[in-house]
Amino acid sequence: MNPESAIETEVAPPAGLNHPSPKAVLRELHGVPVNGLNDSYLYKVDAAEFSRLDLHNAMFSASLGGLFPAPAREDIQQALMICNDGPIPAVLDIGTGSGAWCIDMAKAFPNSHVVGMDLVPVKASSVPPSNCHFEVGNADTDLAKMYAPESFNLIHVRSVVQGVKDLHSLFQNVWRMLRPGGVFLAMDGRLTTWDEERQEILYKEEGQPGFSWFRKMIYHMLEVTKVSTPNCFLVPVAPFNIRIQARNPSADLMHRITECLRGMGDDVWEKVDRFNLYLPVGNFDSPIMSPGERLGGKLFTENMSRLPDSIRPMLLSGDLTPEEIDRLTSGLREELKEPRIKQFSLFIYTWSVKK
Ligand SMILES: C[S@@+](CC[C@H](N)C(=O)[O-])C[C@H]1O[C@@H](n2cnc3c(N)ncnc32)[C@H](O)[C@@H]1O
Repeated sequence: MNPESAIETEVAPPAGLNHPSPKAVLRELHGVPVNGLNDSYLYKVDAAEFSRLDLHNAMFSASLGGLFPAPAREDIQQALMICNDGPIPAVLDIGTGSGAWCIDMAKAFPNSHVVGMDLVPVKASSVPPSNCHFEVGNADTDLAKMYAPESFNLIHVRSVVQGVKDLHSLFQNVWRMLRPGGVFLAMDGRLTTWDEERQEILYKEEGQPGFSWFRKMIYHMLEVTKVSTPNCFLVPVAPFNIRIQARNPSADLMHRITECLRGMGDDVWEKVDRFNLYLPVGNFDSPIMSPGERLGGKLFTENMSRLPDSIRPMLLSGDLTPEEIDRLTSGLREELKEPRIKQFSLFIYTWSVKK
């Protein structure tokens, strides 16, 4: 990171939104608004990003043919069943983004109450039904303050781990907040790619056969996530400045959620299960794709072509210059239209049922 260029100032939050601490909600990083509560999730926050996050939700719904993977459906429906003398079923979506999943869930389960929480106030593209509301908070620091034990029947955390520094404490909080029989549904990706035989593709430098701009982008995303920006600072020790880099330990655990949950012990979860979703990186066809994955892949391709704009503050906090990011963006957009190699991204869903 280049500390001189990381100019951070507080900016006003979007008008008309409720949040506990208006000043803390957004700050400016490299001239772009980012969240002001957390220093490891360095995506921009604006209308274009909320629209990309709507696309993110649509891409998973299309790929899975619903709001969660088919093999998890029975456990989730069971957890959301209404008991005559019990509280109404409640759902929490941590890091809800545009809130689209919450709104879809609230419509699909009208007898449940759905809460979405995020670092920034949600700007949903449609009016949430009355059984859905949104709150602002940081999953690293606020869950214990915001939610009582045994409050929820289902907790959903999708594509959020980049912004969570203490994943183990998140899992403990989730377990505490779940009612017995409640389900935790987590999904995160792996910042690498896979071929049609499901073998991992090795990273290639520019100029080498098999080089991919998409791989270059996710390589830099992983590097910045490991070294979270404001934790990387210069200590003046004459005659040199010593650079200290504090890693976000969760960066290495993004794809190991299943193992982390299983490792919590025998008395914690009734079961822990996993479902792998592979989506094509770019516009190509392959006999191994289902119709849902084909449709999801098209939305993923559109989503990825917008991603460099979303993560510009993150990439500028790493070692790429603005000119290098512009080259990466145009290279990526060309590659997505006409891929030179067939590669897939892996999205790992894990669900567990509380004992
Ligand atoms: C890539 S988006 C995913 C949005 C949504 N979960 C989905 O899958 O459509 C990640 C979201 O997580 C939020 N986030 C990241 N770190 C967080 C944290 N520590 N606490 C709460 N929200 C967080 C971000 O603000 C962003 O809205």
